[in-house]
Amino acid sequence: MKAIVIYESLWGNTAAVARAIAEGIGPEARALSTSEATPDVVAGADLIVAGAPVQAFSLPSERGRASIRQDQDPPPDLSSPTLRTWLESLPAGRGRSAAFDTKFRLSPGSAAKAIDKELAKAGYVPVAPPRHFIVTGSQGPLREGEVEAARQWGQELSFAAV
Ligand SMILES: Cc1cc2nc3c(=O)[nH]c(=O)nc-3n(C[C@H](O)[C@H](O)[C@H](O)COP(=O)(O)O)c2cc1C
Repeated sequence: MKAIVIYESLWGNTAAVARAIAEGIGPEARALSTSEATPDVVAGADLIVAGAPVQAFSLPSERGRASIRQDQDPPPDLSSPTLRTWLESLPAGRGRSAAFDTKFRLSPGSAAKAIDKELAKAGYVPVAPPRHFIVTGSQGPLREGEVEAARQWGQELSFAAV
């Protein structure tokens, strides 16, 4: 099974979740940033899992990104396109999909729901409901146990996608 976990991540938290999900899926799965996941890399994927941070209660946009201060410590990594932009150019496929996001525990809103919808629009059939993973601050870290939960979820997705 060709499985790819694509992420947008400014401070590495969503990337860490993506890597754990890929580990859970199995050795054939790869976690890739939106700049690494070019159309030829993604072509023919049997399972696409995609995740982004929640920003302003939703999936980050290029416009919202422009307002993010770059003089923070540590600085945000803005070198890859937003997942929203990546999804806009995702070629149609016939695989399965799942969506996740990282967010504060008590915040309303979701990025995963929008990701789920866009993946389905491109022909990738969801195998699990959108899933949240919790950060304890804007720059992280992830809540204790989230990396293990992500690994577990990856394993569940690999069973659901066959
Ligand atoms: C501009 C901005 C807006 C944010 N808005 C929200 C929000 O509405 N709800 C929420 O739960 N978290 C919000 N966050 C926190 C992000 O979800 C958090 O930075 C992210 O999970 C960290 O993951 P990353 O290291 O992969 O970027 C916001 C963060 C930023 C920088």
